[in-house]
Amino acid sequence: MSIESNWCGCTKCHAGYGWKDENFDFTDMANVDCLVCHDTTGRYSKKKNKCGYPDKGIDLAQIAGSVGPPGRGNCGACHWYGGGGDNFKHGDLSSEFLNPSRSFDVHMGGEDFSCQECHATDQHRIAGSSTTSAVSEGSVSCLDCHDESPHDDASPLLKQLNGHCQSIACQTCHIPTFARKKFTLTSRDFSKGAKENKILEQSENKIVVQGKLGITVKEKALRPTYAWYNGKHHRYLKGDTIKTSGVTALNSPVGSIKDPLARITPYKLVKSRQPMDSENRILIVPHLTGKDGFMATGDWKLAAEKGMKAAKLPFSGKVDFVETVMYWRLNHGVVPKEESLSCLDCHSPSGVMDFKALGYKQDPAGGGARFEK
Ligand code: HEC
Ligand code: HEC
Ligand code: HEC
Ligand code: HEC
Ligand code: HEC
Ligand code: HEC
Ligand code: HEC
Repeated sequence: MSIESNWCGCTKCHAGYGWKDENFDFTDMANVDCLVCHDTTGRYSKKKNKCGYPDKGIDLAQIAGSVGPPGRGNCGACHWYGGGGDNFKHGDLSSEFLNPSRSFDVHMGGEDFSCQECHATDQHRIAGSSTTSAVSEGSVSCLDCHDESPHDDASPLLKQLNGHCQSIACQTCHIPTFARKKFTLTSRDFSKGAKENKILEQSENKIVVQGKLGITVKEKALRPTYAWYNGKHHRYLKGDTIKTSGVTALNSPVGSIKDPLARITPYKLVKSRQPMDSENRILIVPHLTGKDGFMATGDWKLAAEKGMKAAKLPFSGKVDFVETVMYWRLNHGVVPKEESLSCLDCHSPSGVMDFKALGYKQDPAGGGARFEK
């Protein structure tokens, strides 16, 4: 999926006034929407209008008269609603962060942190690298503020935790669950589109819906998937050929049990069946929005012809579906220390961590740490 050929529907968040085709001028400062981040009235909105312009009928003069540093809601207007709804994309970025309790997030609740308190911003370079879009303007880390060994060394038990930090990311213990209150997207089968929306399954923590874009599964109250991560992700880039016949990972983390730089890190995984050009074996950039877009026509071939042209990619005319998985790192929703994962949450037969999948022969509390002889 990509922005090309879908400009007007997508550019309310993929920012720029009037970004409607490939001729958009990214160097023109006048195209930067300042109010989306600097409005403090909460009345600025681009929900209903198109191509990155603000909605009609809002008092821009009044809003421009009350600008200020961005609040969480300003950043959230884009980051909470990506992927089609509140919390859908990340699972740890939702409107719950507008006014969270301390138990939901110790920093944004307890300490009332703004986003840029951690995402330090200098000359509009917002630090923090994403798991998917690699445009990094510097990284953000828990260690920007906390000590590498933050746990009480005087206590024999808590001292153990400091040793664990060599192999386990802070987030793993301090963000034990995600999508605690709102549903998040966990899988989407684009091959099963239907004209009418239909609920196929519904329970307290899971909902399966069929609609125009296929069958989607949303879940909540989830445990992360744990993986070794050394600070880098592999990436499938637009136009890359799909080599494997199984599941294609679009951005899996780099690292392994043998890599001293890698830490066990929490992720949300999203599984998809998505369209590819079955002859060239490249993922299709479909034209989704507008009258002739997939959402209106339900025709993948047509959507592919138009989208691939805009993306300047070849298209053989043949569409098939391929299984993919995306990784989303979890960084938000740090719970109070009492609710963090502790010894028995991991070191017990029903523990949250699949030690074998991570490369250990057995529970390391009995079998030893990775670099012990
Ligand atoms: C409500 C705001 C919003 C809208 C509307 C939106 N996006 Fe995004 N999108 C985002 C944000 C924010 C990111 C950056 C990812 C993040 O939150 O870390 C993003 C990232 C992406 C990415 C890279 C990561 C990924 O999820 O694969 C793609 C591709 C993408 N958007 C495609 C689209 C397309 C295509 C459309 C229009 C059909 C669209 N977006 C509409 C907010 C939005
Ligand atoms: C993506 C969000 C975003 C957009 C868009 C944005 N800003 Fe900012 N701006 C920020 C953040 C974050 C800060 C740092 C605030 C802080 O330190 O608390 C900032 C700071 C500022 C400051 C204070 C001085 C400085 O540079 O730190 C000014 C003035 C400013 N912005 C003006 C603008 C103007 C004019 C535009 C449009 C051309 C704009 N901003 C667009 C996020 C944004
Ligand atoms: C108008 C919509 C919008 C607003 C408002 C917005 N963002 Fe973003 N942000 C995006 C999109 C879209 C991307 C993905 C950019 C790309 O891949 O080209 C992004 C990317 C990011 C990234 C990842 C960048 C990287 O280098 O990998 C961070 C971190 C981020 N934004 C934080 C913030 C913060 C903090 C604020 C508030 C001060 C904010 N954003 C406001 C749309 C927005
Ligand atoms: C307590 C600190 C903290 C606060 C507060 C915070 N973040 Fe983050 N955020 C992080 C860290 C750490 C990362 C990982 C960044 C990195 O590796 O460089 C991150 C990553 C991100 C990413 C990239 C996600 C991905 O993996 O694709 C986005 C987008 C983002 N934050 C947006 C926000 C927004 C919006 C807010 C405010 C509602 C916010 N953050 C508040 C610490 C914070
Ligand atoms: C911008 C600075 C900053 C960043 C970045 C930051 N923290 Fe904090 N953190 C604080 C402050 C301030 C407090 C509250 C005072 C204290 O307890 O030290 C706090 C408190 C905590 C607590 C104690 C909660 C309790 O119950 O007492 C934990 C745990 C924690 N942070 C974990 C993290 C993790 C994990 C990350 C990375 C995702 C992180 N912090 C990123 C500043 C930060
Ligand atoms: C193996 C799990 C684990 C890892 C990894 C971990 N922590 Fe903790 N952390 C805990 C537990 C459990 C507590 C509560 C300890 C207690 O009972 O006081 C805690 C407590 C804390 C506190 C509160 C300390 C106090 O004395 O009030 C902070 C701050 C903190 N951790 C930050 C971090 C940071 C930063 C990292 C990464 C460098 C990290 N933790 C890694 C499990 C972990
Ligand atoms: C998030 C899951 C998790 C939590 C919570 C956790 N551990 Fe571990 N523990 C691990 C992993 C993973 C290793 C292997 C670390 C390595 O390979 O370096 C390990 C290793 C060990 C080891 C063997 C290596 C050594 O350092 O001697 C002992 C003993 C141990 N843990 C005890 C504890 C105790 C006691 C606590 C609570 C204070 C605790 N663990 C909390 C996951 C966890």
